[in-house]
Amino acid sequence: MTTVYLNGEFMPIEDAKVPVMDRGFLFGDGIYEVIPVYSRQPFRLREHLRRMQANLDAIRLPNPHDETQWTILIGKIIAATMFEDQSVYVQITRGVDSRRSHAFPKQPKPTVFLMTEHLTVPSQQQRAQGITAISAIDNRWLRCDIKSISLLANVLLRQLAVDTGSIETVLFRDGILTEGAASNIFAIKDGVLLAPKKSHLMLPGITYDVILELAATHGLARQLRDVSETEVRNVDELWMTSSTKEVLPIVSLDGRPVGGGKPGPAYTAMYGWYQVFKQAVMRNE
Ligand code: PDD
Repeated sequence: MTTVYLNGEFMPIEDAKVPVMDRGFLFGDGIYEVIPVYSRQPFRLREHLRRMQANLDAIRLPNPHDETQWTILIGKIIAATMFEDQSVYVQITRGVDSRRSHAFPKQPKPTVFLMTEHLTVPSQQQRAQGITAISAIDNRWLRCDIKSISLLANVLLRQLAVDTGSIETVLFRDGILTEGAASNIFAIKDGVLLAPKKSHLMLPGITYDVILELAATHGLARQLRDVSETEVRNVDELWMTSSTKEVLPIVSLDGRPVGGGKPGPAYTAMYGWYQVFKQAVMRNE
């Protein structure tokens, strides 16, 4: 039985029902978080909660809980499942209204939903051989920094990859790399880590920050700047990063090999650093 949390109560997933007048259902008016959990300990929880606060501020929705309450709630949903490694999903919408009106309800009562799933990590084969990606024009709105539940554009873009047997869609806006349909993108060229600077055109990934911190710790040169499509097509390595995938090498883009067409040495080093860092965090070092 899967236990979820909805508006103050823990219940079997089959019993969790949201009214059709919920603004999340009608307008996609809400935000979400995905928090990885290793050995039952949430990874980078404070950072996820801070981003959630920033998202709530961005959509002008008061946070229904403080950090301590969120920590307790997330601890309880983790305890309610048998999995050691999980991904906790948190969704907050602007709640139920009496009529369908774009304008905010006068006193919104947010809908709060939490569930947790087994963390499906990339396979050994994907890690050893890398994954393939395609590219597309980033046709999303101009507030991609908000982790909005309105994911239609991301869904359509990711499906393009699935339709061609690929894992991710790498996005370019006006010839400049933004991110993936559900990940951030990094590149390696001549030993230097390249990534777009945070802006309204991409999600400020929690994993993105971890990668940059690890690069700094281990002396990997890095440049945060516009990376053109032409550059991306000539890099030595390309990686996707996210809370559920950690860091994964993209070895083919639009059917053409990236660098040597196999996971590169910088990826191998970064993946190793990531695992060591994760273990240390989990031991509270
Ligand atoms: N997606 N960019 C987009 C568009 C994303 O959807 C995600 C993550 C990221 C990476 O962010 P983070 O490192 O904080 O996970 C970047 C999540 C996992 C999802 O929607 O399931």
